[in-house]
Amino acid sequence: MKRIVIFSSGSGSNAENIINYFKNSREILVTHVLSNNKKAKVFERCKRLKIEASLFSKNDFYENDVVMKFLLAKADFIILAGFLWKMPINIIDAFPNRIINIHPALLPKFGGKGMYGMNVHKAVKEHNEKETGITIHYVNENYDEGATIFQAKTEILPNDTPEQIANKVHLLEYKYFPKIIKNILLGNE
Ligand code: GAR
Repeated sequence: MKRIVIFSSGSGSNAENIINYFKNSREILVTHVLSNNKKAKVFERCKRLKIEASLFSKNDFYENDVVMKFLLAKADFIILAGFLWKMPINIIDAFPNRIINIHPALLPKFGGKGMYGMNVHKAVKEHNEKETGITIHYVNENYDEGATIFQAKTEILPNDTPEQIANKVHLLEYKYFPKIIKNILLGNE
């Protein structure tokens, strides 16, 4: 059994989708959700889904080994699903090629610090892009720069608003992220 811990900073719709996808799996188990944001909607989702969820502080993440110890006990793989803090290097080193992020654009475009959620979709709109999409990638010490695992594209129509672009990207995330996670985790047997 491969154990996943999901990190989420906000709504958690991807976290919910992943939890549902693996709920009857005999090979992959979502053991826990971690969040840095006490107001994150993901906590309500986890309560409803009966998945354990915990809040952690900046100190527990960057200054002491509380989160690190937790992960060593609970996770084989770490999934970042709308998580907005940079992963500390000690956690990256402890989980080589075992931390996977989803980014709501076609990296290397529209990545880097500050490029998350609606900021990404607004920037895509401002640049009059004809297409956008998702990038699933390994996490390294720089924002959005780890090796790409998978990309999928969607067309942008001239009148699409940033919200409509976000909806199109979310549909790609829901369709592909759990499947790619499954391929990676079970491909490593
Ligand atoms: C998702 O679109 C995800 O790709 C994005 O945040 C959203 C979270 O939505 N992640 C980033 O922007 C990371 N740079 P969710 O909380 O409903 O899953």
